[in-house]
Amino acid sequence: MALEKKTIKNILLGVTGGIAAYKCAELVRLIKKEGFQVKVVLTRNATRFITPLTMAVLSENKVYTGLFSADEEDQEIRHISLAHWADMIVIAPASANTVAKLAYGIADDLLSSTILAFEGEVVLAPAMNMVMIKNPVVKDNIRYLLQKGYYFIDTGKGSLACGDYGDGRMAEPAEILKFLNKRIARSHSLSNKKILITASATREPLDQVRFISNYSTGKMGFALAEAARKRGAEVILITGPTFLTDIVGVTTIRVNSAAEMREQVVSHFEKSDVFISAAAVADFRPVRQFAGKIKKEENDTIMLELGKNVDILKEAGEKKERQLLIGFAAEAEKLNENALSKLKSKNLDYIVVNDITREDSGFGTDTNKVSIINRKEEVTDLPLMSKNELAEYIFDLITSHFEQHNKGIIV
Ligand code: CTP
Repeated sequence: MALEKKTIKNILLGVTGGIAAYKCAELVRLIKKEGFQVKVVLTRNATRFITPLTMAVLSENKVYTGLFSADEEDQEIRHISLAHWADMIVIAPASANTVAKLAYGIADDLLSSTILAFEGEVVLAPAMNMVMIKNPVVKDNIRYLLQKGYYFIDTGKGSLACGDYGDGRMAEPAEILKFLNKRIARSHSLSNKKILITASATREPLDQVRFISNYSTGKMGFALAEAARKRGAEVILITGPTFLTDIVGVTTIRVNSAAEMREQVVSHFEKSDVFISAAAVADFRPVRQFAGKIKKEENDTIMLELGKNVDILKEAGEKKERQLLIGFAAEAEKLNENALSKLKSKNLDYIVVNDITREDSGFGTDTNKVSIINRKEEVTDLPLMSKNELAEYIFDLITSHFEQHNKGIIV
């Protein structure tokens, strides 16, 4: 999901069936007042709660309720033209049914078809019964959509990280507007910046079929790449092997070993403004790589001699001029102490410390529980959050770092 490099002017509001639909009249009024153009799509069930006429009067635009026009002369392919028109889509209220349809890519009405044909950001303000919102299937669908880059506006007390929503009541229109403004402000905040990110584990070959590696999956690095791209940055993602697929709009370079990763970082570092080293780079590699396959008949034991890999981030820290450097520290003990010494020895601006002993943090999880330490040795402990949320937090930090820097404040 990407916000194109243009200003957000047109907001498409999708209204699904639910009592909270009445609040959308106020939402349209607020969005209009903010200076945006609004077009409204009502699902069939939404029309039972609010009339197309109300929304047409408030939005000062035609309201759409179906894929096809009743007028045979009207040849418009609505879901495509609406997807082209919109800069951002907001669904409020978003019913459990619509959430499920989006999670499965079902396109059986105008709203769901438009969303599939849309490349920008989609924001959902769910509203449903308090038991439904806690239903594991609904929670899974929300979690899945969060991972796919959809945004959710919390219904209440629950934590977004685990898709655990509060009472199921839709956020108030003013809150929704606040969220939209925040997203829109962020969308161009890094448009002149080049961001280099490493992700996932590296593989250090033993022979042609075996390797030494670790459990890193690349989720954090990919979440960072996605968040940077959403803010308009030019992003180069150098990743070790991962099941994750390329992100549209991000230059993804796939490598295997630490040596290959280093080579790519070296060739892109100089032109970058920010380097975030989220990869779990193998510290050691087999000194000797056996040709073909090591055969067990020929060997009862094998001595593996491991040599140290270059510390890619440390090397970047030595070369750094204007670049902002952010490292990750995977720690099992003395978290802050170890992380701080890495921040200093690698000449970093920030280090994100991960407690790898926690089940909900570190390799392969969808959530992270981290602290962030800066050069002044200030520690910010963050609550458990999804990797997408952490990525957003890190880019908020980067954005404010640049803003301060532009004002001449040393951070
Ligand atoms: N890193 C790197 N190149 C390496 C090793 C680590 O770029 N060869 C980077 C990681 O991407 C991370 C940071 O350095 O941003 C810290 O990595 P971590 O594995 O926590 O620490 P190490 O420096 O490898 O030290 P140790 O494994 O002994 O804790």
